[in-house]
Amino acid sequence: MSCNESDLMTRRQALKALAAVSVCPLLLNCEFVNFHGEVVEESTFSLSDPAMEALEEIGGRVCYEHGSRGILLIRVSEEEILGFDQICPHQDQPLGLCSGDTSNALWDQDQQTLTCPWHESVFAADGSVVGGPSPDPIETYRVEFDPQTGEATVFST
Ligand code: FES
Repeated sequence: MSCNESDLMTRRQALKALAAVSVCPLLLNCEFVNFHGEVVEESTFSLSDPAMEALEEIGGRVCYEHGSRGILLIRVSEEEILGFDQICPHQDQPLGLCSGDTSNALWDQDQQTLTCPWHESVFAADGSVVGGPSPDPIETYRVEFDPQTGEATVFST
């Protein structure tokens, strides 16, 4: 039996969905299965945390530890923080800032796009591919942010 790339992606997505269905009913707290099959809890952070202070500026970014791979958080406006998976879907390379990695994805504030530093795949704010070699969108995480309090919650999608 042959196995092409679209078959693999379909199987990967099916496995993630199966993991979510299998695990969620067993959980008592507000947890979810992330894109990598890990069970993680929703989490909150505050801009008053020195580790998050880069998000006080529009265009600022930090690596947020959330699951084993981390999330690249970017402050894109006064009211909005975006969360991107730390690993590019093209060749599973890091986007930067997490785990001491020195690569640095480029956020274009005018275009509202993220460019991977490795082969220049370009992703829109919703994770969709708008340029470059990646055949797949990058995973995104929903971030609810209150600019009045500086408090934020990170969800799975
Ligand atoms: S790893 Fe990101 S574009 Fe290749």
